[in-house]
Amino acid sequence: MSSSSTALGTSASSLSVPAGPGPELEALAEAVARRRNFAIISHPDAGKTTLTEKLLLYGGAIQQAGAVKAKGEQRKVTSDWMELEKQRGISITSTVLQFDYSGSTINLLDTPGHQDFSEDTYRTLAAADNAVMLEDAAKGLEPQTRKLFEVCRMRQIPIFTFINKMDRPGREPLELLDEIEQELGLACWPVNWPIGSGDRFRGVIDRRTREVILFQRAERGRASAEKVLGVDAARSSGAVEPELLEAALEELELLEGAGNELDLELVHAGELSPVFFGSAMTNFGVRPFLDAFLELAQKPIARASSAGAIEPVAPGFSGFVFKLQANMDPRHRDRVAFVRVCSGRFEKDMAVQHARTGRTIRLSRPQKLFGQDREVVEDAYPGDVIGLNNPGMFAIGDTLYVGPKLEYEGIPCFSPEIFAWLRNPNPSAFKSFRKGVNELREEGAVQILYDTDESKRDPILAAVGQLQLEVVQYRLENEYGVKTRLEPLGFAVARWVVGGWPALEAVGRIFNCKTVRDAWNRPVLLFKNDWNLNQLREDHPELELSGVAPVVSGVEPISL
Ligand code: G4P
Repeated sequence: MSSSSTALGTSASSLSVPAGPGPELEALAEAVARRRNFAIISHPDAGKTTLTEKLLLYGGAIQQAGAVKAKGEQRKVTSDWMELEKQRGISITSTVLQFDYSGSTINLLDTPGHQDFSEDTYRTLAAADNAVMLEDAAKGLEPQTRKLFEVCRMRQIPIFTFINKMDRPGREPLELLDEIEQELGLACWPVNWPIGSGDRFRGVIDRRTREVILFQRAERGRASAEKVLGVDAARSSGAVEPELLEAALEELELLEGAGNELDLELVHAGELSPVFFGSAMTNFGVRPFLDAFLELAQKPIARASSAGAIEPVAPGFSGFVFKLQANMDPRHRDRVAFVRVCSGRFEKDMAVQHARTGRTIRLSRPQKLFGQDREVVEDAYPGDVIGLNNPGMFAIGDTLYVGPKLEYEGIPCFSPEIFAWLRNPNPSAFKSFRKGVNELREEGAVQILYDTDESKRDPILAAVGQLQLEVVQYRLENEYGVKTRLEPLGFAVARWVVGGWPALEAVGRIFNCKTVRDAWNRPVLLFKNDWNLNQLREDHPELELSGVAPVVSGVEPISL
């Protein structure tokens, strides 16, 4: 989804709500005002699983779902369910976790924990209205976080920063903020400020109330019993060493003098990040984070469509598919399309229009998914995500709507970094091979490229990580009964040619790259490394290249 689709504030022009809203529209407006949704972006091991669990604890959801990451057990959260995940002990797929807290309904769009699956994360970010950037206090910005940040920046969504693991020795807080400001160009506004760190971490000072929240380790699986004191009481009670408290207060003074001001418009434009310090493992700082997040986060926003910006409170239901997932329950061999509700109230058994095909579809079994558990939903509101059974009808980016025709901008393809021929050694299995490749591409499990030489008909798999390719092979074998072979191509960078084939032909012969076609017959250049890419840029500055493929609408992709 391009920046234009999400940068729209609620004041943007929109399909108007009829004058004098009736009770139904009032209920819709109330449901929208109550909703917040976000995705967490982080580098593996920063503590996303731990923070997710703690957040769910506040919504009472963990008990409902009956899943807690037990000590010593393989990494496993409620959102882990695929066989491969279980075997490898990793979190690949993403689902949505919904919980109520303090009068709000929060949708946490869970993203894959493994960096090889960031393509799925990119798409999930297209459905999120806010992002939480989680950092390890000892490590600061890490590669995966930087990449995901770029996608948030493209969409201009608000970014909240949680600096985790304060109970362990870490880097200086001011240095961590400076890194974010300098390297990401993202201004920071600390909502709270740490007192000490590591063994001498004593808590945080709430910047607005000037209250000290004392650090206490909560028992595993428990919400922490917080002790909150005024600064003077903290000083006189001896709860905090005076030198640590004074140092923290001095730094706060420094921030007040030279730092940024809290400006909600800048926060919502993704230019100013509220920053929190805490320790997810000990459940410290999670409650203050959640409270401030509810106050400062963006509500479900208006989104650009072919019919103009659509406000969430527009009466007709509309939404778009941002993720497809096959075989969530191997007993049923089912496929699920995840739809982000953008406007109106969604109701079970609703008949909706499918914009791409023009068909009317009755949605009789919409689901809410919580890890392995499902329940049929009766209704859903903007900001929510619903799971629909998908008998092969839905593709990533598809719009569903009720009322006047509209189509949301699609979700772009992001630059893959690893490429391999996919060989089918058994010609008699070609039909299954073709079906599997086409369906997995449609689902967005992997991007498919083709050689420009028509005699080389095998597809090229293009992915963000090796594991993504392994999952494709695994699923082809388990779901389609085809054993395949991968033959790596030695490329690491892909760029789309913005002007298409005419632009490419205009520059004549080019070197040190391979030209391939994507599923929409657009030229893609593959390079061994950034150096070769830069070389081409220097040789042909007129050739415009992009790491994100523009969205194609209304054209069917090439099938194998
Ligand atoms: P991820 O999903 O981002 O990959 O990270 P995850 O939550 O699994 O956390 C990675 C490791 O960091 C875990 O340790 C976790 O316990 C630890 N961790 C998370 N938050 C904090 C924190 O605030 N403070 C400290 N000290 N550690 C934290 P592990 O040894 O890999 O797993 P486990 O033995 O704890 O299960």
